[in-house]
Amino acid sequence: MSKNILITGGAGFIGSHLVRHFVNKYPSYRIINLDKLTYAGNLESLKDIESAANYSFVKGDICDAKLIQEVLENNQVDGIIHLAAESHVDRSILNPMEFVTTNVIGTVTLLNAARNYWQERKDVRFYHVSTDEVYGSLKDGEYFLETTPYDPQSPYSASKASSDHFVRAYGNTYDMPYILSNCSNNYGPFQFPEKLLPLFISNILNNKPLPVYGKGENIRDWLWVKDHCEAIDLIYHKGANGETYNIGGRNEWKNIDLIHLLCDEMDKKLGREAGSSRGLITYVTDRPGHDMRYAIDPSKLERDLGWTPSLTFEEGLGHTIDWYLANQEWIDSVKSGSYQNYYTQQYGSRLEA
Ligand code: NAD
Ligand code: DAU
Repeated sequence: MSKNILITGGAGFIGSHLVRHFVNKYPSYRIINLDKLTYAGNLESLKDIESAANYSFVKGDICDAKLIQEVLENNQVDGIIHLAAESHVDRSILNPMEFVTTNVIGTVTLLNAARNYWQERKDVRFYHVSTDEVYGSLKDGEYFLETTPYDPQSPYSASKASSDHFVRAYGNTYDMPYILSNCSNNYGPFQFPEKLLPLFISNILNNKPLPVYGKGENIRDWLWVKDHCEAIDLIYHKGANGETYNIGGRNEWKNIDLIHLLCDEMDKKLGREAGSSRGLITYVTDRPGHDMRYAIDPSKLERDLGWTPSLTFEEGLGHTIDWYLANQEWIDSVKSGSYQNYYTQQYGSRLEA
């Protein structure tokens, strides 16, 4: 199995956990992390492994065909785990073209480079890390299976669906070895504080409003980020070529119920009066085209590869809150630069709605 692995987007939320996981667990592998370091990518997240002998970092864009070709050749890459993407739905509504560029053109650029470099090799693997959002929105009682037809509803999910299709098309047309997974909402340390949980933890701490979109009735299926990384490891090593695996922790929460739980846990941890953080909840204009419900059926991954999540949601949420409370400087560091302007542009008007 592959020993020189290129991980794209390794300075992002999931990517940083995945890079750490592979670097620590497989000392005989060489892990090359290629990341453009957009607003969402931060090398602060990898401080503990940056000088490991089996790790190297390349700052670069997956749309840069020449650079990718060089990285593949110079490192004799025999496996690619591709996570680099624009990942935030709200941003995709404001600026879809960035999502087409990175998520679609970037993925195809990477596929082309891999095809040129690998030629007819079959002992290699292109792994695309994708999202459950490609399947669209569910009604009560339904679950996403690997066979669920694609029905993306946001510019973000349309771009991820398109990149999934290109990966399969390269497998079908050029016989390139590939594998895909589609995962539900991840949570945990090192997530950029524009996503629900880190944003709300940070706002509760600073007594700022908690902008709940619409009525807060949308449902998401939450997974501890390290359980996602364990699943990627298993799929990369043991998954069957050309297969897709859905990853999720059977852990559905209505947004408002999750936010109430978070507020109550934060009150306890901060020693605040019970119920005080709930007072920060502010209902704002809904996200346009907001998908109502996601829920993964992970039976195939459980049955074929023996994966199970390691933590209950209550444990994972507790660890997550503790981490953000103990790592305020990480939040301040990633929020510097272009983020502040974006925050005002996106949420300023909603909070007044
Ligand atoms: P993230 O936004 O935290 O990180 C994305 C990383 O990609 C950043 O480090 C960024 O600098 C890098 N990047 C962006 N554009 C790039 C480019 N053109 N070239 C090179 N690097 C670039 O995202 P995340 O939440 O860690 O998600 C990682 C992947 O997992 C994405 O493909 C996403 O679609 C998928 N995914 C995320 C979730 C989730 O809940 N966060 C769930 C399922 C799937
Ligand atoms: O399902 C997997 C997807 O999960 C990933 O593919 C995406 O990359 C990831 O960002 C995530 O997408 P969501 O849109 O579900 O995550 P987000 O944290 O933005 O929102 C979670 C839910 O909370 C969603 O229903 C919108 C709502 N929300 C979000 C924010 C940021 C709010 O009500 N208020 C907010 O301020």
